[in-house]
Amino acid sequence: MIQLPYIEPVFRPPSEARSLILQVTNGCSWNQCTFCEMYTLPQKKFSLKPMDKIEDEIVKVARSGLPVRRVFLADGDAMTLSYRRLKEIMEVIRKHLPNIQRVSSYCLPRNLKNKTVDELATLREMGLNLFYVGCESGDDLVLDRVKKGENFASSLLALQKIKGAGARSSVMILNGMGGHKYSEQHARNSALLMNEAQPEYLATLVVSFPQGIDTYQAGFKGEFEPLDQQGLFQEMYCLLDTLKLEKTIFRSDHASNYLVLKGTLNRDKARLLDTVKQALNQPGTVPLRPEWMRGL
Ligand SMILES: C[S@@+](CC[C@H](N)C(=O)[O-])C[C@H]1O[C@@H](n2cnc3c(N)ncnc32)[C@H](O)[C@@H]1O
Ligand code: SF4
Repeated sequence: MIQLPYIEPVFRPPSEARSLILQVTNGCSWNQCTFCEMYTLPQKKFSLKPMDKIEDEIVKVARSGLPVRRVFLADGDAMTLSYRRLKEIMEVIRKHLPNIQRVSSYCLPRNLKNKTVDELATLREMGLNLFYVGCESGDDLVLDRVKKGENFASSLLALQKIKGAGARSSVMILNGMGGHKYSEQHARNSALLMNEAQPEYLATLVVSFPQGIDTYQAGFKGEFEPLDQQGLFQEMYCLLDTLKLEKTIFRSDHASNYLVLKGTLNRDKARLLDTVKQALNQPGTVPLRPEWMRGL
């Protein structure tokens, strides 16, 4: 077992459970989304890790002989690093861990503003080929209320750049994010964003407030009414119904979800819609994750 000097807490997508988590940055440079408390502790103030420290950690892992195949660049928006720095990191990874098959990172749309498709293609050729993009919604009003600092157009541009570079994107959309009032427009516009972007992966999570709802509510000027289970399923139905995807792996299995849904869209759309309809119309006949097993 090797110990890397992580600044805790460290978050990663569920699908990176077996990857080497390489903390090339600490925290999130934006850190303003009203639903996200992941990087709010004092020690998580945004900072870059010096290149020599990153290389020391990679060398340590290489010397351990562990069979590392995948690397996840942490924390919340490692893609804020410049193209030059990311290229340097990829060179060091390839030098010491030549058997790496995939390097991935969270990626805010604005992280790609100053990166060209050619630069992203170079990084992709070096192995950085998967980006987890927290679009959260395709609805501009909802995105504004939660202070995401992005909108439909900026999110689409980033997803198109990723595709143009031959890399893959895994998008996160938050079920329940607009509350009652904006549920339908949130679902519809999120689906329209996905239809235009055609991401390789799409995941939905249920928006949750482990440390209270006050900041979130302030962004909505007091008009946020959280969705109950039925409301969340109704919104999910609208999202799925509006999706027109060619070949996207869809997962709604994160621990925050009550109803687990998995499939490839649009191939499995009818089956997934049937499951949601059953959860809506025949409560108790579809297994749901109990409240005590839910988490972020
Ligand atoms: C660690 S964050 C990093 C994502 C990246 N910074 C971005 O914005 O694209 C990963 C994801 O966790 C999800 N998340 C964060 N806070 C959440 C909350 N309170 N409820 C549900 N999901 C949340 C969001 O989908 C977010 O994009
Ligand atoms: S959701 Fe992403 S961009 Fe927003 S504060 Fe959290 S880590 Fe930062």
